[in-house]
Amino acid sequence: MVNQLAVVGGGVIGLSVAWRAAAAGYDVTVIDRSPGCGASWVAGGMLAPVTEAWPGEEAALHLGEESLRRWPAFAAALAEDGGDPGLSTTGTVVVALDRGDADQLGVLADYLRTVGREVESVTGRQLRSLEPGVSGVRALLVPGDLAVDNRKLLRSLQAAAIRHGVKFVDDDATEVETGRVRTVSGEVPCEVAVIAAGARSARLHPALAVRPLKGEILRLRARRTSLPPPSRTVRAVVEGRPIYLVPRAGGELVLGATQYEAGFDETVSARGVRELLEGAERIFPSIDEYELVETAAGLRAASVDTLPFIGELGEGVFAATGHHRNGLLMAPVTADAIVAWLDGAAPPPHVEAAHPHRLGAK
Ligand code: GLY
Repeated sequence: MVNQLAVVGGGVIGLSVAWRAAAAGYDVTVIDRSPGCGASWVAGGMLAPVTEAWPGEEAALHLGEESLRRWPAFAAALAEDGGDPGLSTTGTVVVALDRGDADQLGVLADYLRTVGREVESVTGRQLRSLEPGVSGVRALLVPGDLAVDNRKLLRSLQAAAIRHGVKFVDDDATEVETGRVRTVSGEVPCEVAVIAAGARSARLHPALAVRPLKGEILRLRARRTSLPPPSRTVRAVVEGRPIYLVPRAGGELVLGATQYEAGFDETVSARGVRELLEGAERIFPSIDEYELVETAAGLRAASVDTLPFIGELGEGVFAATGHHRNGLLMAPVTADAIVAWLDGAAPPPHVEAAHPHRLGAK
């Protein structure tokens, strides 16, 4: 029976694993200099396996849907243990701005139908009556793709972890091996270590082919003179770039996200801000009147096949990382998988596809 668990990384995945494991009775330590920050703090908060889906990525779709099914219970348990994470169930709409986009949307809709997901196609006029101020010639309604307030979520996870006795070590992990995690200023002994260090995971194990994929977001707020934000998450592709507007309670809107291979660069560039604003005003022109509250950049933990790495790397060392564009979505299934392995039980369905050795590296 494992008792001591060390979790390397205090983002949404590390905190979820730590909370669920501590709630299940394990003695848990999280190693992170700034828990609750990083990519999870910058995220848009979409829980969107269907609108992130693309032909050839069925394993990610199935795993994402498995996690989405777990989200309502996860959020309810978290509300009891640490605070309401702000799960929004208003759904998602994917907008086509012109005929070319409408063709692309048709490809997505056909694909989703072939894998058995029903989506509703609406006209531009129907879209405007559902979401005043949102432009488009056609749209797909995807009511099952949800969203969460990433910042409330992180605060709730930290509170829930503390409530269940999770300890936090303010340090950087340098090496993970059976029985301990070495850090810059010492080591943390453990029976099991979980690497949940996001874009920095590759430094901790050779099998973790994770690279940073920079994303910039803007946070905006409606003013008295502007239209309120759309009620649903609105997604589109503008000039080949995916863009989304995710409403938050209280008139805020998260506008994301750029996507660049830029190493570990986390600066917000003028180009990123321009691209996001130019894209957003094509979809929701009223955004020009909004107050610009914040710009931020984060590093997604990208994998070559868009699937995460969840599973045993070696004796007493597990991976829970590489969630690409889907970290918040996949937090519940990842935490449940780790706790199942600790308990000696079977992991949730579809997790096997995310085995960390699937790409051949050991
Ligand atoms: N999940 C959306 C993104 O990574 O930008």
